[in-house]
Amino acid sequence: MATPQGTVLITGSSSGMGYATARYLSEQGYRVYAGSRTPETLAAIASDALTPLYLDVTDADSIAKALEGCDPIDALINNAGYGLVSTIEEMDEVQMYAQFDVNVFGALRVAQVVIPQMRQRRSGVIVNISSFLGKVGLPLLTLYNASKYALEGVTDSLRHELHPFGIRVHSVMPGFFDTQFARDNLVLNPRTFAKDSPYRETVETLAPTIVDQINGGNDPQEVAELIHRILADDTFPARVTAGDKAARFIPMRRELSDEDFERRVREYYGLEEG
Ligand SMILES: NC(=O)c1ccc[n+]([C@@H]2O[C@H](COP(=O)([O-])OP(=O)(O)OC[C@H]3O[C@@H](n4cnc5c(N)ncnc54)[C@H](OP(=O)(O)O)[C@@H]3O)[C@@H](O)[C@H]2O)c1
Repeated sequence: MATPQGTVLITGSSSGMGYATARYLSEQGYRVYAGSRTPETLAAIASDALTPLYLDVTDADSIAKALEGCDPIDALINNAGYGLVSTIEEMDEVQMYAQFDVNVFGALRVAQVVIPQMRQRRSGVIVNISSFLGKVGLPLLTLYNASKYALEGVTDSLRHELHPFGIRVHSVMPGFFDTQFARDNLVLNPRTFAKDSPYRETVETLAPTIVDQINGGNDPQEVAELIHRILADDTFPARVTAGDKAARFIPMRRELSDEDFERRVREYYGLEEG
């Protein structure tokens, strides 16, 4: 390892959880490569321990270039992500593919570059920043849900695939966190938000609540500290929630029947009873 704590690559570091994690891990003695499409936004926290890198998870060349000349990566934090807010019938194929391209294939593209290094050294950690919406469905967020459910599947499978090589894979499922997510990274489909959309009632009930919950959510520093604990503890569980909403919904999801859980979610969000 290049430093006592190791070398970490984080995607989507310009704000929110990625930024907090990059800063915190660099303060804790890790060598951090903070990947971002706008690395200049990391200038204030750049240091000998933290190098901002241009990295677009949708572009394999940008990933390869970012990692040229970097120390071997001990830990990858797949954090870059955004949320498409759209009903299924109103979205087009470009919107569908783009959601998976960033949230799922983006994580896999970066993993493909770091896994061979980790495999050769027979050690490494991959942390996928999923969501409690990787286990809980909501209307208007179907594609975001699908991308995070997919990432949960990736974690489960990769844990098996990489276990023989001493590489750990974990999922962090945050609830609501006050980051730039609602301000910059919720992509609203204009068709779904049009006055004449047949889903207008659902949009008016749910969309402002979700935005308020994100903007009034927990401090992303919590996620940074959680990731630090995961990296430091070889026995850390496969998956962990972050924040109060996830800690409330995820156990409920396990304990209740699908139908009872749906009822709870509808009540909680004031959605129409089916
Ligand atoms: N905030 C929440 O309530 C919440 C809850 C559950 C899960 N999450 C998940 O947590 C992760 C971090 O989000 P955050 O809450 O910290 O939000 P954020 O402050 O908006 O940060 C998201 C980061 O993802 C990257 N990103 C967004 N769209 C992208 C695109 N089209 N292509 C490539 N990269 C893109 C951006 O990085 P660059 O601009 O640096 O490239 C951005 O800084 C995401 O995966 C999100 O799904 C968030």
